[in-house]
Amino acid sequence: MFHRDSPFVNLWHRLVASCYDRALAPFEERWLRQKRCELLQWCQGQVLEIGGGTGANLECYAESGRLIFSDPDSAMLAKSLPRLNRGRLAVQPLQCRAEDLPFKSQTFDTVVATLVLCSVCNLDGVLRDVARVLRRGGRFLFIEHVRAEGKVARWQDRLTPIWSRLALGCHLNRNTVSHIQNAGFHLARLERHHPPGMPRLAQPVYSGVALNRASHSLRKEEFERFDNIGAQGGHR
Ligand SMILES: C[S@@+](CC[C@H](N)C(=O)[O-])C[C@H]1O[C@@H](n2cnc3c(N)ncnc32)[C@H](O)[C@@H]1O
Repeated sequence: MFHRDSPFVNLWHRLVASCYDRALAPFEERWLRQKRCELLQWCQGQVLEIGGGTGANLECYAESGRLIFSDPDSAMLAKSLPRLNRGRLAVQPLQCRAEDLPFKSQTFDTVVATLVLCSVCNLDGVLRDVARVLRRGGRFLFIEHVRAEGKVARWQDRLTPIWSRLALGCHLNRNTVSHIQNAGFHLARLERHHPPGMPRLAQPVYSGVALNRASHSLRKEEFERFDNIGAQGGHR
């Protein structure tokens, strides 16, 4: 319809970026902020966040350490700037798509993606690259809305073509968790949510900790540090 560099698209991106925090505020208060902070407790070592947007996760990181905070959208990154430097957390902003991560293999201990994988152009390519830049056994932390079942799923399929044009590429109907598993990650924690107040078309939401190519390389004790699937609601 419109070229992605057209003035109309740029204006739309700026508008979405300027409304994003306000639009999410009711969900943040009722559910999302707490989930973000619970998930980010699993961060360790050198961290990369992809599709970080306006920086809603930043307040949940431990106050020290190093974080590369990336997003391809200059309007989103600009909104994140006031949140970037706090405490002793050293944050390096980076404008890039998750499809084009400019890092050597096995650079990071943790990669974080929240509400991002619905929007990337090449989901499997992104997951492959996340696996590449993570060290073996490194942690991929995610919160993502995915395709539902039954009637809701059929509506998600019908509406995604128009919705993705309005919502900067967001797909309502991706089976993201299966893609994460197919990319070779081991799901050490997985929770399914139906967050209060969230439109049904953007449900269910999964949060999880996936370990990179872990099955052959991790020691047993390392697995045991995670509660197993099912402990908190599980993958139904
Ligand atoms: C719904 S927002 C989520 C922002 C933030 N992660 C959060 O939890 O609030 C989706 C973000 O994904 C980014 N995005 C879109 N396509 C992307 C891609 N190919 N690679 C990385 N990020 C992308 C957008 O710019 C946007 O900031």
